[in-house]
Amino acid sequence: MDTLAAMRARRTAHRWQPTPVDDAVVERCLEAAHQAPCHKHTWPWRFTLVGPRARARVTALAIELKTGGRPVHDKQRAFLVSQFGNPGALVVVSQVVAEDAERAREDYAACACAIENMMLAATAQGLHAKWSTGGLTRHPEVRTLLALPDGEEVVGFVWLGEALELPSVSRPPVAEVTRSVP
Ligand SMILES: Cc1cc2nc3c(=O)[nH]c(=O)nc-3n(C[C@H](O)[C@H](O)[C@H](O)COP(=O)(O)O)c2cc1C
Repeated sequence: MDTLAAMRARRTAHRWQPTPVDDAVVERCLEAAHQAPCHKHTWPWRFTLVGPRARARVTALAIELKTGGRPVHDKQRAFLVSQFGNPGALVVVSQVVAEDAERAREDYAACACAIENMMLAATAQGLHAKWSTGGLTRHPEVRTLLALPDGEEVVGFVWLGEALELPSVSRPPVAEVTRSVP
């Protein structure tokens, strides 16, 4: 798949098949992410591969957050597992946050580029991806589970795998978001 085709084909998946993802596929996603542009060569991204034990706890926490700890019936549990338990791989991308605000801003942008590269690499290998933020990514227990060092902040969870379904997203025509100056 060429780059333009991968960009067009990439779509965020929200529900997933329980299909495993080969380590070699994830490795190529990480290599692609690591090729992202980075002003001042600070290489601020860190990748944490979340193994099965931590994944099980992440799924349980996600269900707890979604249900407010109330009892979950089977259908609802299956739905939530398709969102959080099924994706074949989970990579957490964190940023080493610089003290200087301008540096930190540019480093965040570099991390965002790394995530997009990772998702495009997944697409190019026939998989789907999702970048998520939100309550789960900020949960204090998640920090501990991921053994995130002080000074690092989560930029996103990147879920990789085979989608169960893909939502259609309509976006404005590019002309609507483009200006020209003479
Ligand atoms: C910084 C960032 C954070 C995101 N966080 C979430 C999230 O927490 N939950 C979610 O469902 N989608 C999240 N997304 C994915 C967007 O919802 C998705 O990109 C958008 O719907 C457009 O769809 P597309 O990726 O298929 O083009 C996030 C995307 C970005 C760039």
